[in-house]
Amino acid sequence: MTIKKTAALAILATTAMLGAPLAQAQDTIKVGLIAPFSGPFADYGKQMEGGIKAYMAQHGSTVAGKKVEIIMKDTTGPAPEIAKRLAQELVVRDKVDFLAGFGLTPEALAVAPIAEQAKKPMIIMNAATSVITTKSNYIARVSMTLAQSSAPMAAWALKNNIKNVVTLVADYAPGIDAEAAFKAVLVKGGGTVPETIRVPLKNPDFAPYIQRIKDTKPDAVFVFVPPGEHTIAFMKGYRERGLAEAGIKVIGTGDLTDDHMLPAMGDATLGVITTFHYSAAHKSPENAAFLKSFASANPGAGRPNFMAVGAYDGMAAIYEVARKLNGKIDGDKAMSILKGLKLNSPRGPIMIDPATRDVVQTEYVRKVEKINGELFNVEFDRFPDQKDPGKQ
Ligand code: PHB
Repeated sequence: MTIKKTAALAILATTAMLGAPLAQAQDTIKVGLIAPFSGPFADYGKQMEGGIKAYMAQHGSTVAGKKVEIIMKDTTGPAPEIAKRLAQELVVRDKVDFLAGFGLTPEALAVAPIAEQAKKPMIIMNAATSVITTKSNYIARVSMTLAQSSAPMAAWALKNNIKNVVTLVADYAPGIDAEAAFKAVLVKGGGTVPETIRVPLKNPDFAPYIQRIKDTKPDAVFVFVPPGEHTIAFMKGYRERGLAEAGIKVIGTGDLTDDHMLPAMGDATLGVITTFHYSAAHKSPENAAFLKSFASANPGAGRPNFMAVGAYDGMAAIYEVARKLNGKIDGDKAMSILKGLKLNSPRGPIMIDPATRDVVQTEYVRKVEKINGELFNVEFDRFPDQKDPGKQ
């Protein structure tokens, strides 16, 4: 009897000891956020962090009775090898429930096999090359693809008698997608692309490329370069070399006039026409609430851009999965909830295509204008329900 009692007590004691950290782990939903927070693309991580803070300030830091913990990891990127190692650590050591973030395509591609192997839902909050979502069944994208905004830009150009267009893109996967999607639609509609220019992702010098565009004398130059030093350098060169005066217009994907950089880029951007899924000037109650929450959760951070919105919507997706699974996250069950998920995003309604796990959304045509002395991408036309043309 005594022995039995002792044994029972011992079991109880062991359970209690093991139970404490176990209960704690089960009380938390862990999200590993992989993005550059330092280096040339540091703004990408900061925008995502800002969007997540905005979401959690508005919707609380618990869901399905569990605390949501964000574990941020800096790739310093573009650095696919570092992204991969960080993802491994997040899965093995931190035991995260979700992998999220991904500002740059090479980093998302490097992590895809880990999501696949560990059966961890991987929520893409920016990286925009079409092929990414085909690399694991555990990937869902809430952001955008380059093909998705480049194809409507070509359709709009044709309609507006802009038929002879030079393309200029960053020389890596999303740039190649943008070039291909734009060119395919333009040429099919009777347009021509006399030159396709690709600029290096690292330390590009735009001067010779801009001169080449001037010499070619197209109706317009179509541009995709990632926001940051590239967008500033391109717009500066375009103005300084007098391309506007030579009658060469700038069109592009909205990355070129992203909302965060726009105030610093200044009047050089006035009149630039782009297609994109998000503008800070988008008029809706959801966007007003997002902008308000972003400003109060991120004092001094400036204006949020599409990456902040991608992260905000990524969190909305994670919260929805957590609610539907009563806080018990399982990779396969999470993916079946993500497939077909609809959200009322600050950009407008979006859906995760159940067949491709990629985002379906409206592409807006916008023009940079001043409103009360501040530069904005003002939406004036739209292409609703755009799937990723890279997968059709
Ligand atoms: C990407 O690397 O996929 C990427 C980066 C910046 C953008 C868009 C896509 O603005």
